[in-house]
Amino acid sequence: TSAQAALSPSAKYACQRQSPLVCPNQDLVEQLAVLKRARELDLNWESALSYARAIASIKAYPRKIQSAKEARKLAYVGDKTELKVIREYLKSGQISETKSILEGEKYRVLMEFSSIYGIGPMTAQVLYARRCRTLEDVKRFYKDPDNAALEIEEDDDDEDEEKNVRVPERWIEVSLALKDDLSIKIPRREVEQVARMVMHELEEIQPGCLHTIAGGYRRGKRESNDIDIVITHPAADANRVRELCQEFTDVLSKKGLVTHLMTLTGQHSPSSSPAGVIAKAFTIFSLPGSGRSRRLDLIFAVPDVYWTAVVGWTGSTMFQRDLRLHAKSKDLKFDSSGITRRTDESVIIAHSEKDVFEILGLPYIHPTMRNA
Ligand code: CTP
Ligand code: MN
Ligand code: MN
Ligand code: MN
Repeated sequence: TSAQAALSPSAKYACQRQSPLVCPNQDLVEQLAVLKRARELDLNWESALSYARAIASIKAYPRKIQSAKEARKLAYVGDKTELKVIREYLKSGQISETKSILEGEKYRVLMEFSSIYGIGPMTAQVLYARRCRTLEDVKRFYKDPDNAALEIEEDDDDEDEEKNVRVPERWIEVSLALKDDLSIKIPRREVEQVARMVMHELEEIQPGCLHTIAGGYRRGKRESNDIDIVITHPAADANRVRELCQEFTDVLSKKGLVTHLMTLTGQHSPSSSPAGVIAKAFTIFSLPGSGRSRRLDLIFAVPDVYWTAVVGWTGSTMFQRDLRLHAKSKDLKFDSSGITRRTDESVIIAHSEKDVFEILGLPYIHPTMRNA
C-alpha cells in the first residue's frame, strides 16, 4: 500500500520512520542533543528545532554513519550546521562545541534550574540573569515577595495543547522541596506498581475503567521521569470525564496517595480540550512504604478520543509534533483530543490505536519505534 511505502528512514516526518530507543549512532545523537539543549536554554528555538530534526533523522538511520557523504543524504542534516559538526565527530569521535558546552558553568546551571518541574528555559535564563547560580539561590529568590510574580513555564512544547499547561507558581516551592526525589528516575516495575495501585483505587469509585500506561514507559524506556496514564470509561461522556478526574484526584489526595495537585485542567481552565473531551491532573504521587514522591500525570478521555489520547501521550514529543504536521498536510487536524477534517471540522473517530494511523494515512509504528 502507499502507506507502507511511506515508511522509510529518510521519510519527511518522524511519524513515518522507525525510531528505536537506542540507535546505531547513539553516541553522535547524544553529542548533538547537547547542542540542541544548549540552543533551547539560549532560547534559540529555531536552531534547537533544526538540531532536533537532524537528531530524529539520525535516530531512524539503521546503520552506523561512516562518512560525511553518507550523513549529508539524511533528511534535515544541514550543510552549514549539522553536517559540519558531524564531520568533526566522524574524524575525532568528539564535537568540540559539545565538549566546551559541557565544561561551561552556564550550561550546567541552566540545566539544573530547568530540571525543576515548572522552570523552563525562559525562567532559567531570568534566574541566571538575576545572579542565581545554585538551587539555594533559586529558593531565596522565590521567597522574596518582590520576585514572587515571576512567571512559571512548563518545560515542554511549542505546540497547542502543551502550551496551555502552566504550573501554578505557588508550586515552585513544592517542586524545589521535592527536587531530590523527583530527579530520581522511575524503573519500569515501579511505573507498573503505581499504575496498578492507581487503577485499583479508581475501580472503587468507577468500576470498568480502561487504561494505558503511556509516555516514555510505553516507548520502552527503562527509566522514566514520570508516570503517564491515559484512562477512559466506555460509558463516560465529557461531563463524567471531568467529574471523574476531579473526584479521583480528591480521593487519592484524601488517602494521602496524591500529596500535591500541580495542575488540574478540563474544569473551567483554558487548557481544557475544545469539546472538554479530555481532563488532566498533573500530580505528585507518594508510594506508600517507599515514601518517595513521583510525578504522576492522569489523562481522562471520553471513549471516542481515547486512542488519539493514547497516541498523543505516548509521544515522543517529536513524533507527536510530526503527527500534527503530517495530519495537516492531509487537511486533517490531529492532537490528543481527536482527529478532525480541516475543511468542515467534522470529527473522525479512531476505534483503536492502529485506526489512528490508518485515518492519518500512516503505516502503523510500534510504540517502541516512536523514539524520534
Ligand atoms: N504531552 C502533552 N502535553 C503535555 C505534556 C506531555 O501532550 N503537557 C505528551 C507529549 O507528546 C509527550 C508525552 O505526552 O511526548 C509524554 O510526555 P512526558 O511525560 O513529558 O515525557 P516522556 O516522553 O514520557 O518521558 P519522561 O516522562 O520519562 O521524561
Ligand atoms: Mn515533559
Ligand atoms: Mn512521561
Ligand atoms: Mn508526563
